[in-house]
Order: sequence, then C-alpha cells, then structure tokens
Amino acid sequence: MTSDSTTSVPTIRPGLVWPDNRGRHIQAHGGGIIRLNGTWYWFGEDRAEDNDPARRYVSCYASKDLATWEFRNQVLALEDPESFGSEWVLERPKVFYNARTQKFVMYMHVDGRLPGNASRYSVARVAVAISDTVDGDYKYVRSFRPFGKESRDIGQFIDDDGTAYLIFESRPSQGFYIASLSDDYLDVKEIVSFIKSPLEGGAIVRYEGLYYVIGSALTGWWPNANKVATAPSLAGPWSEFTDIAPPISHTYMSQSSNLIKVTGSETTTVIYVGDRWRPEEIWDSRYVWMPVRIGNGQLELPAPVPWSIDVETGRVQY
Ligand code: DGJ
Repeated sequence: MTSDSTTSVPTIRPGLVWPDNRGRHIQAHGGGIIRLNGTWYWFGEDRAEDNDPARRYVSCYASKDLATWEFRNQVLALEDPESFGSEWVLERPKVFYNARTQKFVMYMHVDGRLPGNASRYSVARVAVAISDTVDGDYKYVRSFRPFGKESRDIGQFIDDDGTAYLIFESRPSQGFYIASLSDDYLDVKEIVSFIKSPLEGGAIVRYEGLYYVIGSALTGWWPNANKVATAPSLAGPWSEFTDIAPPISHTYMSQSSNLIKVTGSETTTVIYVGDRWRPEEIWDSRYVWMPVRIGNGQLELPAPVPWSIDVETGRVQY
C-alpha cells in the first residue's frame, strides 16, 4: 500500500481500498497466497466491475514485501466450462506448485444450480486448472466432488515439509475435511482429517509444532465469529473451537481465507487473511490482514490497525 515517512517498509491498512501497482483495488477475493523463490503470489477471485459477466476470473499478483502488489495477469477468464448455468460460481481459488511435475495446479470451488434445486450452490464441486508458469494462463482440466462429497468453500495448506493439502467444507457431513493430494496434484488422495464442526473459510498454520485451524460459521456473505482449534498432528485429535476475536466484532467484519506464516531471521509472524465482503458491490470487497497473537494453543486476532512487516526479520510494526 502506501509508504510511511517514518519507515521504508510499506504499510498495510486493513479494510481500506488496497491499490495494486496500477492504482486499481486488488481483485483477489477469497484468496490464496503461496511463496516461491522469495516472491509471494496472491491468487483470488477477480470481481472487477468491467469483467465480462459470462466469465469468471482469477487474478494473480506478486509481491516481495506482502504490502505492495504487482498485478501479473488474469490467469483464468473462464466461460461456463461444464454447463453449470448462467449463474455459475467460481470462488476461493488456490494454487499449488508441484515440484515433481513442475506445474502449477489451481483448485477452485465451482458451483451452479442443479435442475430443480433452489440453490445456485447445489452443484458443490471442486475444479482444477493447470499451468506451466505461476502467472498463467491456466487451462481448465475438470471438476469433481472430492471422495464423492459435496464441496463448497476450499482452503489450502502447505506444511513445513512441503506437503500440500486441500481443505473443503461439506454440509451433509456437517464439517470439513483436510485431504492430501495425488502425486500430480490433479486429484485428492486421502482424507487426513475430518473435523466435525459446521465451518467454512478453513485455513491452517503450523506454529511451534502445533497445528491451528481457523474457520467461519455458515452465514453466507455476512461475517460471524470465526473460530480456532488446535491439534498436535493434522490427523488430530482437534481441540474444541474457541473465538479468535470478541464475537460482537464479527471477526472485525471479516471472514477467514488464509493464514500466512512469515519465518524471519528474528521472529515468526502469522498473518490472518480475511475478506470483508460487500455482496452488493462485490468488486469493492475489502481485505482484513492482521498479524495474530499466537502460541501455546491460543490464536487471537487483534483489532485491525495499520501495520507493516519486515519480511526479512519477520518483525511487525504498528
Ligand atoms: C460464504 C463463503 O465463504 C463465500 O466464499 C461465498 O460462497 C458466500 N458464502 C456466498 O454466500
């Protein structure tokens, strides 16, 4: 975002318009962030007002400091790929780099109205797309229901050893799944954990040997009290869920999407990445990014204020 005069490190301002290098509000809603060779890449739903309404878009941005983002490309500008219908949905794209195949694999939630169904979220599938380069273009491969299950919100987790996991929410099971991926990442391989709690917007971080999972309640675009649970292993056992912020704040009017771990030379900082949705003007939905207080099984999201991070040391300034 902008640079403070007191520091050379640019400031992140939660909830405000976040201009990219072109001066346009970043379009990467419900996003996923990965780091490759010292650069972070942020993928998300591009909901720009001037997009072709028949297509669904994913954009990619790149940054060295997590605050200033360069628009790289609309890496997907997809027409309804499988006759999902005119109201079809593409949400929460996440990209994984597969070192074995040297391909970039995008997962996304695709949806639409099944014949005779009242909900435009009744198709409930994941789709995959593939690219040779991080910033596209991505080629649509197919959609499927992971392990035959309904899947809506998806999240991603890349463990410290590089293993990639898909998180997906499944309403009939009233909970969400953590699944490992096949060797080529084009399919899910195994359910590592099922967490029986009706939550979506799932995100995971491993911090000091403990796994922390966060998620939101199922209230559509309206924000609610997001929650956290911990486990010594991804397979569990998972603790009870507790609030990450005062419930009255509705998670400071945001919904979880990701947790970024910045392992610096001096300290490790974990950043909550949330969306402040504006469903009537969805292109103007905002981002709530804040470092969390984390450790000993606790994860708390402080009230948003402007902040900056030195990604070399991991230190944060407010
Ligand atoms: C909540 C989900 O987290 C969002 O991604 C979106 O699907 C909305 N529901 C739609 O109501």
